[in-house]
Amino acid sequence: MRILVTGGAGYIGATAVAILLEKGFEVTVLDDCSTGHAELVAPGAKFVKGSLLEKADVVTALEGCEAVMHFGAKSLVGESVLKPEIYWNTNVNGTRILLEAMRELSIKKIVFSSTAATYGEPKRTPITEEDETKPTNPYGSSKLAVDYMLTSESIAYGLAAISLRYFNVAGAYKSKSGWLTENHNPETHLIPNVLGATTENPLKVFGTDWQTADGTCIRDYVHVTDLIEAHISAIEKAIPGKHSIINLGSGGGYSVKEVIAAAAKAVGREIPFMATDRRPGDPAVLIADISKAEKVLNWKPTRNLEVMVQDAFESQKA
Ligand code: UFG
Repeated sequence: MRILVTGGAGYIGATAVAILLEKGFEVTVLDDCSTGHAELVAPGAKFVKGSLLEKADVVTALEGCEAVMHFGAKSLVGESVLKPEIYWNTNVNGTRILLEAMRELSIKKIVFSSTAATYGEPKRTPITEEDETKPTNPYGSSKLAVDYMLTSESIAYGLAAISLRYFNVAGAYKSKSGWLTENHNPETHLIPNVLGATTENPLKVFGTDWQTADGTCIRDYVHVTDLIEAHISAIEKAIPGKHSIINLGSGGGYSVKEVIAAAAKAVGREIPFMATDRRPGDPAVLIADISKAEKVLNWKPTRNLEVMVQDAFESQKA
């Protein structure tokens, strides 16, 4: 079976490409390389350098595909507040064009990268898929809009669709051609920033006065390899005419200070850090209820925080 991976040159998409190929799937990548890196795409995948916003590119990329893993998106929360139009265009309009092309070519299965940002500031934790969705930024709103789009598409046209709502994706995958490192510019994610911290450029801890045990924010980290295994299961389990929304996390949380301690252990040195103001829009605690993923996808993450930090470190060294 050939799968189109949109955003296949990004950190998560490239990991999907490598794992799919190793499992015997055929893969086409569609990526405009605006934030991705072509060199991350595993040899063996067909690469279409093009945009979700150009229907001709999408149609070319869909040739011979039976399903789509849709990672291609803009994904910086801060940028989405400053330039929301980019998020509505790429994430929502780009997906609209993708679905239109899939409809015309009778490709009826999609697994979509949704996000915990669709929930906004949660009223309770762990968060279930039934909980209120009230995004606090255009990034989350744009992903929620696509979730609604997929529901209507499945009802109207029999699409088999699963939205996977990621919590905090971390770690790295060592493919046959090497480590697939997380490499964003600018880097905003905690673990790469922790590993890159130096005495001259210490990690900024965004707030130490949160209502948590050590005063720092708690997040639910999931290894990128576990995450992709859930996507492959989703491709197998998606049902025609149905759109399911499923959280992907570990079901547990770690504070920023706990992540720093785990990283210090992995790298064998102290991590220099300094407390700064809270980052606007950050909720105090985000933890996923993953019982639906366990039930529907028959999936459970197996790699803990220590493995995530260790793999992130090894991949950065390489
Ligand atoms: N943090 C720091 N210093 C940093 C980076 C992060 O203290 O340099 C803290 C943040 O305040 C937060 C935690 O570390 O408490 C994790 O931050 P990340 O930026 O790594 O991840 P987020 O939880 O902000 O973001 C993740 C996804 C987003 C998604 C969001 C949903 O990466 O795509 O969850 O809330 F939108």
